[in-house]
Amino acid sequence: MLALLRLLQDGRFHSGEALGAALGVSRSAVWKQLQVLQAELSLPVHKVRGRGYRLETPLQLLDEDWLNAQVGAPQWHACVMPSVDSTNAEALRLLPSAASLPFYVLAERQTSGRGRRGRSWISPFGENLYYSLVVRVEGGVRQLDGMSLAVGLALLNVIHCFGVTEAGLKWPNDVLVGDRKLAGILLELSGDPADICHVVIGIGLNVNMLVSEAGAIGQPWTSMRAELACLLNRNELVTELNKQLSRYLDIQRRDGFAALQDEWHANHLWQGRSVALTAGAAPVEGKVLGVDHSGAIRLSVDGVERVFSGGELSLRLRDDS
Ligand code: BTN
Repeated sequence: MLALLRLLQDGRFHSGEALGAALGVSRSAVWKQLQVLQAELSLPVHKVRGRGYRLETPLQLLDEDWLNAQVGAPQWHACVMPSVDSTNAEALRLLPSAASLPFYVLAERQTSGRGRRGRSWISPFGENLYYSLVVRVEGGVRQLDGMSLAVGLALLNVIHCFGVTEAGLKWPNDVLVGDRKLAGILLELSGDPADICHVVIGIGLNVNMLVSEAGAIGQPWTSMRAELACLLNRNELVTELNKQLSRYLDIQRRDGFAALQDEWHANHLWQGRSVALTAGAAPVEGKVLGVDHSGAIRLSVDGVERVFSGGELSLRLRDDS
């Protein structure tokens, strides 16, 4: 099916005969594959008598060979899958047999994409980036301090570099444009964080998505295409993401998150805002002072500074801020 998609991705008309010849199958086998493509991947295909078939919207598929041949980018092995439950889950499954580290998994779609706090991540075929990088971390839990915030900075740099200059960060590691979510980050751990462990850095970036399955994303969202009014090349985005991640993770490993604190504050959209922090039962209300050297959020609560950390925490703006 992927071979057929590669032929159709330009959005032009291709006759059933030409497609069959290119794939070495009959015209009726092409027709069957097209049915599967429409049903399983929700990709509309137009058929016009005498001209053939074309995708309603052109696609630019992820290209594993191209990604693995990039020079001047980190030599991390890419594994591209047409469809997977979750790239984070797949990365964890591949870890025991990985030939080298770091490596990363990309998928054209996820059927059970994972978000923070038990949420799902809507992952339609061929439109966005679903990316999971596996890195080895040694030296204890301290090495994990601020890692997800460093990843946020790396991702934000990529987004800025491709032209979405309005994007900023929301603690702990959402990327927003205004109040609309553009990207999210989910770190998952394998092994003993006190000794040697592996971290799966999962990134979901809305790239070319313009409509989502009716209301499936339960919050305001945007995509790079919606912001820039043009289609983006996801392979080029991945190459830049690898470069930026390599740079920011190196700084965080060598000098700690403290070395990135100022840059992080400069990009924090909610700096100084009045927020409510959801941390279990009752939300804590306060004003955002910033983050500390470990990436924990500092709030002024009734005039007293309090520091909070943990992957299950979440901020929202208070109405009066
Ligand atoms: C969030 O809730 O903001 C985090 C979303 C993280 C989604 C990405 S998509 C690639 C990777 N695989 C997953 O299942 N989740 C992460």
